[in-house]
Amino acid sequence: MRTPVIAGNWKMNTTPQTATELARGVVDGTAGIAGVATIICPPFVSLQAVKSVAAGSDVAVGAQNVSAERSGAYTGEVSVEMLAGLVSYVIVGHSERRSLYGETDDDVAGKAIASATGGLKPIVCVGEPLEVRRAGDAERYCRGQVRGSLAGYSAWESLVVAYEPVWAIGTGQAASPRDAQVIARAIRDELSNIAGQEFAERIPVLYGGSVNPENAGPFIDRPDVDGALVGGASLQADDFSAIVRVTAGLTLR
Ligand code: PGA
Repeated sequence: MRTPVIAGNWKMNTTPQTATELARGVVDGTAGIAGVATIICPPFVSLQAVKSVAAGSDVAVGAQNVSAERSGAYTGEVSVEMLAGLVSYVIVGHSERRSLYGETDDDVAGKAIASATGGLKPIVCVGEPLEVRRAGDAERYCRGQVRGSLAGYSAWESLVVAYEPVWAIGTGQAASPRDAQVIARAIRDELSNIAGQEFAERIPVLYGGSVNPENAGPFIDRPDVDGALVGGASLQADDFSAIVRVTAGLTLR
């Protein structure tokens, strides 16, 4: 019912030249694979180049962040309008933005709303830190982040949500597919509370955190996990394409 989504978050990696090569690798590596929404999210400075490479392919391009402001004296920021011709998706509220740059749920909600208003599909990230997981409070924490990060949001048909436990990001310690399902289910339930069940059933909920070609399948196989947000493994075209292929294989069954 929900088309699976595999999104690559390149973070602060690649130059315009190596981004072009990586994008070419992904376009070639995923050519002919149907039934998966494949997205690559390079740094801002490479969006134009990557867009050119992806043109005419099934690979969509996303940004990693965006300002909630329309324009003006916001040195170093990038607006929705600037991105609108370049990308179709934008990651907002990634845990690195939250922890390193102090983004709050309010900030994330502002970015999500601005994105959707400007025609971009926000990929809204939530996920608990290790101490919250250890305290047995992950579900309540993530439900709260969903409510806070989507306060005032209403463009449900263009929303993607990613569950990324902070302790699983870039650590090689992925969550278990079972735990990912439990939180993805809770996220969908919370979405149902705020958006209504019909929309909640249509919103893709991704898992992110140390996903690779070997472990991706069991996550995506879970009923409420609709794909993956991939960091490290998205920097290798072969690995990323393999994750897309695994996902397509599961969908075909
Ligand atoms: P990772 O990153 O796959 O390297 O753990 C995921 C993310 O931060 O989106």
